[in-house]
Amino acid sequence: MKKETIKMLLVEDDPAHIDLVMRGMESSSKKFEVSIAYSIQEAKDSIKKSKPDIVISDYLLPDGRGDELVAFANRAFPSVIITSYGNPKMAVEILKAGAMDYVVKSPEMFLDMHHIAERVLREWQNILDKKKAEEEKKILEEKLRRAERMESLGVMAGGIAHDLNNILGPMLMLPEIIKEEVQFLSRQISLENSELKALVSNIDRDITLIEHNTKRAIKVIKDLLAMSRRGRYEFQPLSVNTLISSSIKDPEFIVLRRDKPRIEVETRMQDDLPCIAASSIHFQRVLYNLYINSFDAMDIEGKISIFTRRAFLENPYIAYEPISAGDYVVIEIRDNGSGIKKENLSRMFEPFFSTKKQSRKSGSGLGLSVVHGIVKDHNGFIDVWSEEGKGTIFSLYFPALEEKIEANPLESTKRMVRGGTESILLVDDEAGQLFIAKRALSMYGYNIEEAANGEEAIKKIQQRQQNPFAMVLLDMMMGTMDGLETYSKIQSISSAIKVLIVSAHFAPEMIRVFFEKGISWLAKPYTKESLALAVRKTLDGEKA
Ligand SMILES: Nc1ncnc2c1ncn2[C@@H]1O[C@H](COP(=O)(O)OP(=O)(O)OP(=O)(O)O)[C@@H](O)[C@H]1O
Ligand SMILES: [Mg+2]
Repeated sequence: MKKETIKMLLVEDDPAHIDLVMRGMESSSKKFEVSIAYSIQEAKDSIKKSKPDIVISDYLLPDGRGDELVAFANRAFPSVIITSYGNPKMAVEILKAGAMDYVVKSPEMFLDMHHIAERVLREWQNILDKKKAEEEKKILEEKLRRAERMESLGVMAGGIAHDLNNILGPMLMLPEIIKEEVQFLSRQISLENSELKALVSNIDRDITLIEHNTKRAIKVIKDLLAMSRRGRYEFQPLSVNTLISSSIKDPEFIVLRRDKPRIEVETRMQDDLPCIAASSIHFQRVLYNLYINSFDAMDIEGKISIFTRRAFLENPYIAYEPISAGDYVVIEIRDNGSGIKKENLSRMFEPFFSTKKQSRKSGSGLGLSVVHGIVKDHNGFIDVWSEEGKGTIFSLYFPALEEKIEANPLESTKRMVRGGTESILLVDDEAGQLFIAKRALSMYGYNIEEAANGEEAIKKIQQRQQNPFAMVLLDMMMGTMDGLETYSKIQSISSAIKVLIVSAHFAPEMIRVFFEKGISWLAKPYTKESLALAVRKTLDGEKA
């Protein structure tokens, strides 16, 4: 128990017994604050007033039996029943009612009461911890299932988009050709032939409609393709603030504002944020899809706020999805629009899920699935808060790439990152990468050994079974034996060796495997500080 004083309620009508228990409690190393109730009714009143940490109750009381009290407590705290006339049948009944223990009175037992109470409190804490762990596991499993469902829907959507793209290609081109032909025809028709003129003009109008709708269909397909992650990414270190500034100057965004001029747009961006590895085109799509949803959610008036900030997560954080511990740049897009219904919160990222299908706005339901896919490809995470009638906040977490050099960079970084003297094996098939990592980690005091591939790494680990490496820094993409395979081999030699996997790109599937296996990982390119931070965290058994 973390609490300093333990509130104990003793329910007992025999003053001699109370006296003995109180004497026993004095020899406890823990600080107990004992209150006394002489009857069931008094005990109930006392519990209602303030919840005790533990109840010790006599079985036979003037106005009822102790198990009645146990039932009343309804497992909100642990209770122990003491009795002078014990028998096995009674014991079973009492335990069934929910008591943690059942003890027969004796002078020794009274004096030993503090041990009994301490033991029961420990057992109770264990039960609570186990329950909490089970609940967390259930939440995680549900989130994982949701991720898997989205993954397969994404693959399917990608396949369809690819086919549709091929089908729609000619449909985009042909209207232009037909329109030219129609115009040519129109020029041939003499002015007097008004019937024919009208017909040609109708053809032109209909073809324009086809052209317009084809363009819309192609926009949907672009979203689909982006979502299925078939598009190629060009990641480069970019400033989130710059990306946002250019997104709100974009013609598409300007059109949104023009249509709803009474919606205020506010930006509040933190200075000196580190860069993130981003693909600009994809990123703009993420922002646009979130902006348009916010505009849709507000009728005429309202406010959209776009914030950026930095977040250091010391521990994994169970948000809308589990977010690994790490150093992040966070973008928040808030609106005070309609909000999202609770029952839609878990489904809104699914492709084709839309509440706008029937309405004037007519959405395809792809916007948020595109956001989700692209954020995942950036190794990012999403958190959502929404309340019907109040509004919505989307928070996007992107791994910070680099310490932005500030006025006093040495102070801020050196203070944060601790080094160590542990021995670390670096495994990478690129000599340049080995060189950089070795230089960086040596500066933090670590003992470095190198291996140029998975096989060599395994050999070195086997040779050093007496004096094993504390950690292995493992590149993911290697020629013959890749990072994961090497990881499994290392685990089979010794599960005590910590492993940190690094790579320039982690596919979302990969990250899921890391999650499941509890593997730490770090995205390249890394700075000296971010590498040292991740190494220290891995060595200390925290998630990098
Ligand atoms: N900011 C928001 N406020 C209120 N509801 C939202 C917001 N963002 C998303 N939603 C809800 O989530 C649903 C899914 O959003 P999503 O962007 O995926 O599809 P859509 O906007 O309906 O269609 P599309 O984006 O393809 O045009 C929306 O239909 C809406 O119900
Ligand atoms: Mg949308």
